[in-house]
Amino acid sequence: MSDDNVPLLIISCSLNPGSRSRIMARAAQEDLANAEWLDLAESELPLCDGGAAYGHENVSLIAEKIKAAKGILIATPIYNYDVNAALKNMLELTGRHWTGKVVGFLCAAGGDSSYMSVMAVANSLMLDFRSVIVPRFVYATGKHFEGPSITDADLRHRISALCQDLSNFSSALDGLTEKLEA
Ligand SMILES: Cc1cc2nc3c(=O)[nH]c(=O)nc-3n(C[C@H](O)[C@H](O)[C@H](O)COP(=O)(O)O)c2cc1C
Repeated sequence: MSDDNVPLLIISCSLNPGSRSRIMARAAQEDLANAEWLDLAESELPLCDGGAAYGHENVSLIAEKIKAAKGILIATPIYNYDVNAALKNMLELTGRHWTGKVVGFLCAAGGDSSYMSVMAVANSLMLDFRSVIVPRFVYATGKHFEGPSITDADLRHRISALCQDLSNFSSALDGLTEKLEA
């Protein structure tokens, strides 16, 4: 389904082994077969201190993956009405590399009421780094899953629709977003 020529990256941000946002990220990987994969649970990062942490080797590795991608799908848990700290920390460590990226969000939450929680990070990416946010968020709660499986057909469909949009936006804006100044 995806445009195979446009480089995409899926980042799974939960550190929980039973993560539902990772289950969604894996489903997205089925749709975006050539997308690169990054799991923060498998890549230990220092806490951003605004200084020495930028020199950590894993920060450079992650920054390279972000740099190489045109479109990035973020799969995140919702914690305290926000994205989780692992994602926030990764953004702090890789900041300007998000310039001009097309970004989509898959969110796993405990309840229905936190559906706008991703907006703070979306705003920060837009206003700090001129990222282009795909205007379609996937937001899911426990009722959409059974164990490690997505049991809600509509959720699976919404993940595919987001993958399609991410791919289309990334292709359409290819060549344009590179011209955005940091
Ligand atoms: C520290 C913490 C804070 C949470 N805060 C919220 C919240 O504000 N809103 C919500 O709907 N769910 C909240 N939850 C529930 C998680 O969003 C839910 O467990 C989700 O599945 C986590 O994503 P993951 O399964 O990918 O790790 C919280 C869970 C934890 C552990």
